[in-house]
This record gives sequence, C-alpha cells and structure tokens, in this order.
Amino acid sequence: MMAIPGESRLRYHCQLRQSAGERRADTHPLTWRLREDGARIGLDEYREKDGYEAAIRTLEKCTPGDVIGTMKEANVRGRGGGGFSAGLKWSLTQVGDHLPRGYLICNADEMEPGTFKDRLLLEQLPHLLIEGMIIAAYANRSCYGYIFLRSEYVEAARSLALAIGEAREAGLLGKDVAGSGFDFDIALHTGAGRYICGEETALINSLEGKRANPRAKPPFPGQSGAWGKPTVVNNVETLCNAPGVMQHGVDWYRGLSGGRSEDGGTKLYGVSGLVERPGLWELPIGTRGREILDRAGGMREGHTLKAWLPGGGSTGFLLPEHLDLPMDFDTIGQYGSRLGTGLIAVVSRRQSIVSLMRNLEQFFARESCGWCTPCRDGLPWTVKILQALERGEGKPDYIEILEQHTVGLNPARTFCAHAPGAMMPLESALRHFRAEFEAGIAQASLEGVG
Ligand SMILES: Cc1cc2nc3c(=O)[nH]c(=O)nc-3n(C[C@H](O)[C@H](O)[C@H](O)COP(=O)(O)O)c2cc1C
Ligand code: SF4
Repeated sequence: MMAIPGESRLRYHCQLRQSAGERRADTHPLTWRLREDGARIGLDEYREKDGYEAAIRTLEKCTPGDVIGTMKEANVRGRGGGGFSAGLKWSLTQVGDHLPRGYLICNADEMEPGTFKDRLLLEQLPHLLIEGMIIAAYANRSCYGYIFLRSEYVEAARSLALAIGEAREAGLLGKDVAGSGFDFDIALHTGAGRYICGEETALINSLEGKRANPRAKPPFPGQSGAWGKPTVVNNVETLCNAPGVMQHGVDWYRGLSGGRSEDGGTKLYGVSGLVERPGLWELPIGTRGREILDRAGGMREGHTLKAWLPGGGSTGFLLPEHLDLPMDFDTIGQYGSRLGTGLIAVVSRRQSIVSLMRNLEQFFARESCGWCTPCRDGLPWTVKILQALERGEGKPDYIEILEQHTVGLNPARTFCAHAPGAMMPLESALRHFRAEFEAGIAQASLEGVG
C-alpha cells in the first residue's frame, strides 16, 4: 500500500498512542512488538521478536496443570469485562485426562459502546493471539479453536486469516504443533453483527448456527459448551496475556502493576469522547483514571468533565472526584460501577445526560435478543420515556418508572446480563444527575400535579 505523504500513523482513534521508545518487552507485554507505522506484524517479524517461544517452551516443558497453576497464581483476570480469573476458569474446565477434548473460543465480538481495544491486537498483532490460544488450548486440552470476530472488523479478519495461514504453514497450528505431539487448529468465524453474540453462551449458539440467545447456566460452557463439549471462552486481551505469563513467570507478571493493584499485568486502557487525543495506552493495571485522561490531553478546549464511564456503555457513571481511583476490577466495583473493558468515555458539562442515556438505551433496546420479557419490553419502554424527557414532555411519574426499571431489569429477573448492563448507566445517571431528568418533565404536567 502506498503511503500518503503526511498521513499520520494514526489511521483511526483505536491506534496506540505510545511511541516505540516507551514500550519495552519487560513493561509492555501486549504492545512492545507493535510498529510505529501501525502495520500488521507478520510471522517472521513476530518470531524475530521472541514470538512463539513461550508457546513452544510451554508445550515442551509444562503439563496442562502447570499452565493453569501459573495463570491462577499470576492472577490474570478476564479482560472481557467480568474480571473472572482465567486460571480458575481453566481449572473448572480441565476435568480429567480422558474426557472428550473440547473447544477454545476467543471472544472477538467487541461491540461494547466506546470499546476498541481488541481491535488493535487483532489487526496489528494476530500472532500474539494465536500464541495465547495455543497455550490456552493446551492447558484446557482443547482440540479446536474458534475466533468469533465482529463482522465489521474487516481489517482484523484479513489480518487473522493471513496469520492463521502463516502459523499453519510453519507447523505452529494443525497436527503435532511445533513437534510437540499436541494437535490444535483454529478457524476464523465472523459474526453477523449482534451485540448479544458477545455474551458467551449466545456466542456458542450463534457459532452452532442457532438463534443467538443466551443459554441457561448451569451447565456452564466449561462443562457443556459448543456442541455439548467442554468449552472455554476468553476475551482477546485475556488470551494475549498468556504468552507473557508463561515466558516471564508469576512474579514478573504480578509486579507489572507496580503495587497499584492486586490484579496482575498491564491493561489496554483507552479514552473516547470530547478529549484532545482519544486513543489507547498499555499501562499497569490499577493506573488512575486521571493519568489516563491526562495522557489523552484532558478535555477539549471549552469543555469540562461532568462524568465518565470507566469501561464501556454498560458500566455506571463515575464523577470527576473518582478520577484518583485505581482502575482495577475490585476498586471500581466498590463505587457502584464496573471496570468493564477499561475504556473511558468522557461526558462534558455541555452534554445532556438524558440525551446520552436515550442514545445508549436505544442501542441496548435494539440489541436485545428478545428472549425474556423484562428486557424485550422494558428496554424500549425506557427509550420512550427518555425520548419524552428529552423533548421536555415527560410526565411526573416518569422518573419513578425509570427507577423501577433499574430494579426490575436486575440480574435476578432477566435471563442474561444484557439488561442489567443496560440499567447500570441509567441507575447511576439517575443517582448523580436527577435534576437533569426532572427538567424534562413538562411544565403542564407539573402544574396538573400541583
Ligand atoms: C451482552 C454481553 C455482551 C458481551 N460482549 C462481549 C464481547 O464483545 N467481548 C468479550 O470478550 N466479552 C463479552 N461479554 C462477556 C462474555 O460473556 C464472557 O464473559 C467473556 O468473553 C469471557 O472472557 P474473559 O473471561 O476472558 O473476560 C459480553 C457479555 C454480555 C452479557
Ligand atoms: S436479558 Fe435481554 S438479551 Fe438477555 S436473554 Fe433476556 S432478552 Fe435476551
């Protein structure tokens, strides 16, 4: 491809904002291999930069139990939003030597509003993911892997397809991976573009060619997942952590947070919204929101921070005073929100929370799979109410109805976490910015009440 003179290496805002000089193998395990020009790293370059050494050594020297023990001790927590321990998940799946071998699925559906971290790894460093999948598959005795990719990620699809082909040709996938006696191959599957396909059991249904609604749990995928076999589903970033852990060990991985968090490793953090430099950074897990925002150059001129979502559209709003909290799973969870994907979305004082919520709920209502009534009917109802409040035509009981939704669509009452995720920003918006909602109640109806 010909370079366009003067073209920035930042083709999209999802590019990394750290120079090659800042990224080192011992401090930036996810991104140190990335090039300044943002081009995809092919097999030769990946191998020159120690690529596949961790997987080959793991297959040679470790048992599956060793790998799981190492991942557990390192405290690698799932980067798909839930923060569940990867090692623990794998230990619950690894249920014996003689069971039918199952599947490993990489969740690359990335449709969370404001989230664009996996895209970076998928487009530019596909071999890191493949290497992580080899390690995870070996630990879980998976015979086959799937990458379930968001269909709009066309460049990622191209990059992954090339990388899978390169790895196969080099004997790193297929029969007898790297001469180890372990067989494992990967297929790339592009979804049809639904947010609910990111939910792991809906994803499995979709992969099997069925309607993409979630499945009841238990049984969990680790016991009975794709085609009834033990199945591990992990996020792209989670799997990309495995090579570093196996290469450098538990103490190194845990030390990466520099005491900022009990969680191990680094995190791909990002910022979107009205900031000077939206983008992505690989930073120690537990980095404070303020530092991440500073790296993004702060709010754009003329804008002041009113609120922020710490990790995607299904997390709760935090306030400017929360910027000094360490951005890790447990801390953010204590303040009525979730770390989620760790990609911050800022809200300016000049933006309306009601309009923002209407926009978000429209997305969640459209993406409901329609399987259970509270979500299928409740989400469009919140949209109608928010639209009326936005127009200044709300009725006096509208805020109470919204509050009832935040309770009625909680995890105990809906079939999956989609509706509770949709309610988290709404509940926190009502708690922090009630006056903005009240301002949308029509004067005429207030007079009627009085
Ligand atoms: C509605 C919904 C959408 C989700 N979307 C994604 C997604 O796009 N990517 C992802 O990794 N996890 C997503 N998840 C979480 C997955 O169900 C699952 O927990 C995750 O892939 C597990 O990976 P991890 O343990 O590595 O974090 C979603 C969950 C829900 C409820
Ligand atoms: S909560 Fe929503 S997305 Fe989840 S099963 Fe029910 S209808 Fe489907």
